[in-house]
Amino acid sequence: MRLYDIIKKKRDGGELTTEEINFFIRGVTDGSIPDYQISALCMAIYFRGMNVRETSDLTFAVRDSGERLDFSAIKGIRADKHSTGGVGDKTSLVVGPIVASLGVKVAKMSGRGLGHTGGTVDKLEAIQGLKTTLSEEDFIKQVNDIGIAIIGQSREFAPADKKLYALRDVTATVDSMPLIAASIMGKKLAADDDCIVLDVKTGSGSFMKSVERSRALARLMVDIGKRAGKKMVALITDMDVPLGHAIGNSLEVIEAVETLKGRGPEDFTKVCLTLAAYMLSLAGMGTPEEAERLAKRAIDDGSALQKLKEMVARQGGDPACIDDTNKFAKAKYAYAVKSEKAGYITRVDTEAYGLASLALGAGRNTAEDAIDYSAGIILRKKTGDFVEKGETVATLYANDMEKFAEAERILLTATSFGPTMPEKPPLIYDIVA
Ligand code: URA
Repeated sequence: MRLYDIIKKKRDGGELTTEEINFFIRGVTDGSIPDYQISALCMAIYFRGMNVRETSDLTFAVRDSGERLDFSAIKGIRADKHSTGGVGDKTSLVVGPIVASLGVKVAKMSGRGLGHTGGTVDKLEAIQGLKTTLSEEDFIKQVNDIGIAIIGQSREFAPADKKLYALRDVTATVDSMPLIAASIMGKKLAADDDCIVLDVKTGSGSFMKSVERSRALARLMVDIGKRAGKKMVALITDMDVPLGHAIGNSLEVIEAVETLKGRGPEDFTKVCLTLAAYMLSLAGMGTPEEAERLAKRAIDDGSALQKLKEMVARQGGDPACIDDTNKFAKAKYAYAVKSEKAGYITRVDTEAYGLASLALGAGRNTAEDAIDYSAGIILRKKTGDFVEKGETVATLYANDMEKFAEAERILLTATSFGPTMPEKPPLIYDIVA
């Protein structure tokens, strides 16, 4: 078999066989296929697409390119959630403890920030002392003992995706439905969960900018997961507006803790409760409506908060930070961004808001960059709010005052004002089961 023939077949609109797809991913993984041929095939897939069978084969090949986890030693039903990435998206920190407090096991491998989006592992590491690497044995033991562990992905996980993603990133082929689906689901399926709830973000802060494309991606990923024998649901949730008020690692952990104490922002709380409800429901704990009532009770009676504290303590973090969030390290400087106009905020470019947080030091520009955990943004006004001229729209936090000017410029440029209140977008657009 030659990759030349496979590229030519796809370039001309042909359907690749399972053997051809496996040959491709084997060659990506062992380095026998040069980057230019991998890139050429990605471009052919970008233009010609793939059907569900081809995309499933690609996903399974990516999944099998490295180690797969075996969670069979975990007692009970295992449920996971995965977000396609957004700004201010700290849902895992709330949803995981809710679900685990109700007896469903959460054995979660999370990622770090990618581009303008944040990552759960970076957020968890904002908690002093908390370890996000555990041996497989300790990970499984922790899940059996307390019901939850959230750690980073090991290097051996779906290595073909690492290579493919790096090449897609520099060849303008990230934005391809089959390639995104295979990348996300290849990694998800390498873990060993029974139920998976996908949170497919849509809007200016997500990879998928339109609801139609988000819905199509959600359907494709649900299909692939079902072919792999998983119980699947995808929620399509809004990312045209940042979720909650906090962007940046410590700030987001604090907002998540506040939410578990019942004092979270309305939009964020609702998305968390809905995600938790579908995870619980897939795990057999009633209809989504019944499960949402259980999830709400777990916040109201403090059991979800207690579960987060147990997880933090078990992973070496200081649980006192959860009781008293003033213990989180604070940025040295705060800066109020004032509106230059009066009017309703009609639209924000949420991706740019993520980049403003990056400019303050809360994310990485290269994989080697260190993160400033205390840096970030608290949004005082969001889409739909009326703002007077000179009123504070956001507070910026950084340890280097020189970072404020650039972040302020990005934020103000990304915020549009108008004379009338805009229509509120739905928080949850659709549920794909
Ligand atoms: N997240 C991923 O892991 N892969 C993609 O291709 C896009 C988002």
